[in-house]
Amino acid sequence: MNKKNQLGFIHRFIPSNSKVFTTLLLLHGTGGNEEDLIPLAYELDQGAAILSPRGKVLENGVAPRFFRRLAEGVFDIEDLKFRTNELADFVNGAVKFYGFDLQRVLAVGYSNGANIAASMLLLRPETLSAAILFRAMVPFVPEMLPDLSNKHVFMSSGLHDPIVPKQEAERLFSLFKKAGAKVSLYWQNSGHELRIEEDVQKAKECLLPWRSSFS
Ligand code: MLT
Repeated sequence: MNKKNQLGFIHRFIPSNSKVFTTLLLLHGTGGNEEDLIPLAYELDQGAAILSPRGKVLENGVAPRFFRRLAEGVFDIEDLKFRTNELADFVNGAVKFYGFDLQRVLAVGYSNGANIAASMLLLRPETLSAAILFRAMVPFVPEMLPDLSNKHVFMSSGLHDPIVPKQEAERLFSLFKKAGAKVSLYWQNSGHELRIEEDVQKAKECLLPWRSSFS
């Protein structure tokens, strides 16, 4: 087994050509794979490096996900926590293997991918510096909230999302706020699907303060 495979996830890594760069950790939705969010990542930041794993859980034997669920929106919390730690360990391994800066890792997650990114912020906050969460819900509520005061979180949620009701996105926003994160919630006139142009534009605007903290 080569070293890349020892990192534990099927994944793509695309290095950056810049000297100082962000690494986008791309986390796809249910049934997706490591290729799905790459075009969106280039829209977000052309100069970024990309680390894009494929979720290891296969729903109904066919649909890759990042953790198990018992029903739509009902999560297997034990598996979620196990998979969150596993993914955080993968990111740490990739930092050493590919040589990028852990302080500049920005998660970009859609749906199931956004939910595990939110879970990483709550369980392994040191793994991420910022997160863009498209159509996310509360993954779980920790007994003790982590200190997220140095994290930037941008949430984009659908006003007519049949999978994530409005109150659910608001609950996640409040959780991050309570943990001290610099969080913003943008309402998109959409369902659960992405509206790439607007979603990306708003995410870029909201993350400007995070970017400028490096320059
Ligand atoms: C999840 O299972 O993470 C959410 O229900 C979103 C989805 O993947 O449909």
